[in-house]
Amino acid sequence: MKILTTKKELLADVSALKALGKTIGFVPTMGALHEGHFSLVRRCANENDVCVVSIFVNPTQFNNPEDLEKYPRDLKRDTEALAEMGCNLVFAPSPEEMYSPEEMSQTFEFDFGGLDHVMEGLHRPGHFNGVVQVVSKLFDLVQPYRAYFGEKDFQQIAVIKRMVKLMNYDVIIVSCPIVRETSGLARSSRNERLSPAERATAANIARILFESRQLTASQSVCQVQSWVIEQINRVDGLRVEYYEIVDCDTLQPATEWKNAIGCVTVYCGDVRLIDNIKYIG
Ligand code: PAF
Repeated sequence: MKILTTKKELLADVSALKALGKTIGFVPTMGALHEGHFSLVRRCANENDVCVVSIFVNPTQFNNPEDLEKYPRDLKRDTEALAEMGCNLVFAPSPEEMYSPEEMSQTFEFDFGGLDHVMEGLHRPGHFNGVVQVVSKLFDLVQPYRAYFGEKDFQQIAVIKRMVKLMNYDVIIVSCPIVRETSGLARSSRNERLSPAERATAANIARILFESRQLTASQSVCQVQSWVIEQINRVDGLRVEYYEIVDCDTLQPATEWKNAIGCVTVYCGDVRLIDNIKYIG
C-alpha cells in the first residue's frame, strides 16, 4: 500500500492507473478510522480494481475551532489498519498541500438548493461548504469511478449527490449502512472522546430511535418527533440539539411516514453525536 502526501504524486499515480484501464474506488475520510470506515473500505476494495482512501481532517468544514483541535488523529494506526483490508493507496495531505491561504480563509460558494437550511446545515453554518470544497477537490484528484459514503452522515450524502449533479462528476455515489457498536451506538470517530460511562449513556440514543419505530402505526410524525426529543433529554447526560423527521430525498419535514427518516444530533457531555433511523411507511 502506497502512502502519498502530495497532489502531484497522486495525479501521476491516478493517470498511470487510468492508462491501464483500472477502475478506481474511493473512500474519503478524516481518519480516526473505525469499523464504519472499514466497512466502506472493504466494499470499495471488493468492487473496484484499485481502492484509494484519503485521510484529511478538513479544516474548512469545522465551524467550531475547538472541535477541529480535538478531532482525534492517528495516521500510523489508520494506515496500518488500511494495509490489512485491501486499500492500495492512501492520500494524506497537509492543509497547506490541499488549500491556498485564500481558499482556507474564504467560504466556498455552492448552490445547495435549500439542503443547507436544515439540520446540520442550519446548526453548523458553513460546514457543508467545506465538505463540498474538499470532496470536489478530492474527486478532481482521484477521479473515482465509485465513491463510498456512510449513511450516518445522511445529509452529507444528499449534499454530495447534488454536488455530483451540479458539477457534472462522472462518479457513482455508493451509500453504505450505519455500522453500530453492540450497544447500538452508531460508530463514530467522536466516540473515542467518550468515557466508558458516557459511551453507555450514549447507547440510549439508538435505543430510543429504534423504539420510536414501534410508534409509527399509532402516532403522527409530530408526536413521534416530540416523544424522541423528550425521551433522549430525560437521560442524564444527554441533550438533544435537534431531532427532525424528514423526507429521505428532499430532507424537508415529513408529513407522512412513507420515505421518512429521523435525524438526530445529541450532545453527550461536550461530544456532539449524530445518528438517524429510517421509518417504514
Ligand atoms: O464524512 C467525512 O468524514 C467528511 O465529511 C469527508 C467526506 C471525508 C470530507 O471531509
